[in-house]
Amino acid sequence: MQIIRDRIEKDGPHSFEWFMQQALYHPEHGYYSSGRCQIGRKGDYFTNVSVGPLFGHLLAAQFAEIWKRLGKTNDFIIVEQGAHDGQFARDVLEFLREHLPEFFESLRYRILEPFPILKEHQRRKLAMFGDKVEWPDSPEPFAGVHFSNELLDAMPVRLVSNGGEKLVGLEGDKFVFVECSQRTTASQPSRDRGAFNQPALDWIDETAANLNRGYIIAIDYGRSEEGFHGKVQVRAQHRNLDSPFEQIGYADLTMSVDWESIIERAKANGLCIAGFTDQHHFLTGILSVIQSGRFPQLLLAESPKANRELKTLLHPEMLGRAFQVLALAKNVENNQPPLAGFKFARHLIQSD
Ligand SMILES: C[S@@+](CC[C@H](N)C(=O)[O-])C[C@H]1O[C@@H](n2cnc3c(N)ncnc32)[C@H](O)[C@@H]1O
Repeated sequence: MQIIRDRIEKDGPHSFEWFMQQALYHPEHGYYSSGRCQIGRKGDYFTNVSVGPLFGHLLAAQFAEIWKRLGKTNDFIIVEQGAHDGQFARDVLEFLREHLPEFFESLRYRILEPFPILKEHQRRKLAMFGDKVEWPDSPEPFAGVHFSNELLDAMPVRLVSNGGEKLVGLEGDKFVFVECSQRTTASQPSRDRGAFNQPALDWIDETAANLNRGYIIAIDYGRSEEGFHGKVQVRAQHRNLDSPFEQIGYADLTMSVDWESIIERAKANGLCIAGFTDQHHFLTGILSVIQSGRFPQLLLAESPKANRELKTLLHPEMLGRAFQVLALAKNVENNQPPLAGFKFARHLIQSD
């Protein structure tokens, strides 16, 4: 991307956070902000959402349980951030309209979307729901649930180690990493884990401040059983590329989420840890609660396609173990049983 090159030539090496911000979110050339990113079979990578509608149906059941816990309030808001083309919202709303009309009537669906082109895609995909779906100009206070799938891994990170930082510089015409013995900003990670995601910490501060009552559910890939790997992943057309300097603006860049730092910050913001587990256990819990008849109106489609989707979402060698689910709560009674998704939770991190 020429603008990155020009800036480094003029001002010298820049942080990887700045580079990642340009590559993904430069208003004109960024991989996401330009609308170039495609998810799914014909795109660059799969997500839970692109596997099929079952993921949204299971989460819709979890949202319904939360709505009941909040006393079936009729100003319940589902906030989604990182909604891409609006497919998850559509899967959730279609399912609730058909199976839980009382909840459907009580809720509003709010999408926090900074990029006009993605907002346009979402408006088209969700047109049939009229003003049930809203796009505020900035985050607003709400009661209900804030949901995100693979939002945090797409936030720009600084690459830090041993008190120093890896910057992006130029060697002739080529982008290269440059080791710098000092860091570029005053804010420091509390632990040195290879990558520092300041936007994720700012996100939790902001979301906690706006949540009046309810839950935050974030699904992402991060801490694995072996621990946190601070390595940038680069994906294009279902291939892992070797370097973030390949196909800049045409490839996805992600960093696995350092859940411990998010949890630490959430607690500092007065949030309670309502659960933390892997996706396999989370979705199995929701499924079992649906099958037990706790939501008599909820019926999941049984078909070879739905079974394939379920296997992809649950299988430990597919998406079941790679992804984790964190739920945070505010102003909800804490002497209740765990949410459906945490019924079988294997707590990967000590919760409160
Ligand atoms: C990996 S994609 C996931 C898309 C979708 N949730 C899914 O699972 O298919 C990450 C998305 O997060 C969006 N995103 C990144 N930072 C954001 C922010 N601060 N607010 C809203 N969306 C953001 C990107 O534009 C992109 O659409």
